[in-house]
Parts: sequence; C-alpha cells; structure tokens
Amino acid sequence: MKITFIAADGTTTPVEAAEGESIMRAAVQNDVDGVIGECGGSMMCATCHCYVDEAWADTVGQQEDGESDLLDCAASEVKPTSRLSCQIRMRPELDGVVIHLPESQL
Ligand code: FES
Repeated sequence: MKITFIAADGTTTPVEAAEGESIMRAAVQNDVDGVIGECGGSMMCATCHCYVDEAWADTVGQQEDGESDLLDCAASEVKPTSRLSCQIRMRPELDGVVIHLPESQL
C-alpha cells in the first residue's frame, strides 16, 4: 500500500507500507524527514503529528480518544485534519493516502 508524504517545504516522498502498519512507523522506517515518533507509538510524545490531506480526511477518520490532549503539546499548529500518525493503521481503503507533515515536531 502506498503513502505519500508531503513535507512542509513541498518535498514529496512516496513510501510502501504493509497492512496494519502505522503511518508513523512507515515514515520512520523509510527515513521520511518530519516524523520522529519518539515514543514508539504509545501516544506519549506527539512527535508523529501529521495533517491528513483534506481529500482523505473522512476515510482516515477522526482522532482517537486522547489524541487531541496530546496534540495540544504538538510543536506545530494543530488543524482540523491533525492526527497522530502512530494512531493511523494502514488498511486497504487507505492505499494511496496523502499525509502532509508539519514544519517542526520539536
Ligand atoms: Fe509518540 Fe505518536 S509516536 S505519540
């Protein structure tokens, strides 16, 4: 399954991800700049903050419980499409998803 990351400077990085893999993990494993994932996906750091592309927002779905609390600590502006990328797991309907990355995670 494909994920396209678009960095704050416009750099586009396509990566392949397996079903069930989190978007954070896919980014870190492919050295995508702009995702840190410091806590390893246990919802404790907010360094995996991302903006789901508007066209994909409904398919990806709403924030999980607790995400918005943690996003309050995010380094970059929080928008309606903000998510913690460690909480989004790849599933078939997300093939081709587009994820925008914030300017900073720290
Ligand atoms: Fe830490 Fe997502 S990796 S909250």
